[in-house]
Amino acid sequence: MKRGEERLAALRDGARLVLDENWLGSSTLPSRTLYPHQWSWDSAFIAIGRSWYDQAKAQRELESLFKAQWANGKVPHIVFNPKVPDDAYFPGPTFWQTSTRSKDAPRDVETSGITQPPIHAQAALEMHRHARDQASSVAFLKWLYPRLVAEHDYLARHRDPTGIGLASVVHPWESGLDNSPVWGRDLSELAIPAGAIPPYQRHDLAHANAADRPTNEAYDRFVYLVLRYRDSGYDDSVLLDAVPFTMASPQFNAIYLWSTHALVELADVVGADPTPHREAAERIHSALLSHLWDPDARCFAAMDVRTKERGVEDTIVAFAPLLDPEHPADHRTSIVDTLKSNCFHPDRPGDFVVPSYDLLGEDFDRRRYWRGPIWINTN
Ligand code: DGY
Repeated sequence: MKRGEERLAALRDGARLVLDENWLGSSTLPSRTLYPHQWSWDSAFIAIGRSWYDQAKAQRELESLFKAQWANGKVPHIVFNPKVPDDAYFPGPTFWQTSTRSKDAPRDVETSGITQPPIHAQAALEMHRHARDQASSVAFLKWLYPRLVAEHDYLARHRDPTGIGLASVVHPWESGLDNSPVWGRDLSELAIPAGAIPPYQRHDLAHANAADRPTNEAYDRFVYLVLRYRDSGYDDSVLLDAVPFTMASPQFNAIYLWSTHALVELADVVGADPTPHREAAERIHSALLSHLWDPDARCFAAMDVRTKERGVEDTIVAFAPLLDPEHPADHRTSIVDTLKSNCFHPDRPGDFVVPSYDLLGEDFDRRRYWRGPIWINTN
């Protein structure tokens, strides 16, 4: 084997080892210490990876996640493992209290109350493309498809409080890019009443270097947003009153669109009507362009759906609409120019990976998650 091939083989074997060591029997831990439960979009990425070599486990991964889906279609961002002590991760089930606070939350398993990027339909399609046992894959998709449709319906019906055609996130954790400067202005403007946050203990700092993690100030804001949503009973019909953070992100919505296109193909596999997904794709595509494209800055930006103000930070979220197959060519050129600029291109020919935040940005931090470091999945 040539050296490059050897390195790739070693990398692939190492990646498989990580997944296999973190396999719990029906899902995979993102990390034994820092993330000791099942996470929604991590599971989708993991299932895509596994589908290249272990179809059965890839299917079980998504099955475990969707067994915890809420009655209203929401796919929770964490499915808690009952065997893990409550103090292994904060906020754990005793903080979220979903099964007692919301009529829609499952009763037989504890979950968080928020969601994450809806990448699952796309993951399911990838899995089907790699499946050696096509019959088993089709049977699995027949089970999963209505659940994926419910996930998308939830976003369309409950997460678009101002009717713009896009789904909003109600917490930075929902974006998967928790600590990104993209949320900076909206978080810093949050007025947190004195005494609103009960004392809590972060467990992440016991397992990770504080320099990598969000600051305590940011954590207070994360906890406050959970409390606001939780205290509404996770009731999306009062989102704008209950939760002081409702953002439409280009990344979340580009993934939503990408998965909507996947639903068109999956409908074909299971013999369902793809028309509603085609219509939904058209709606999300148009809304992305009309609400999140900034014609002056010539880039996509996250928008506060209450004020309709768009952010100005250059972060990785701005590139995700490249997933849209109908993306206008001149927009694409502008995005690619930004990608190639000194802000995102670390000038290492042949080694082109995109950092999570503008290398020249004021808040750039080479260690802290989402403020610089690369997460390869977003690439
Ligand atoms: C965390 O705890 O860091 C997570 O990103 C929240 O999902």
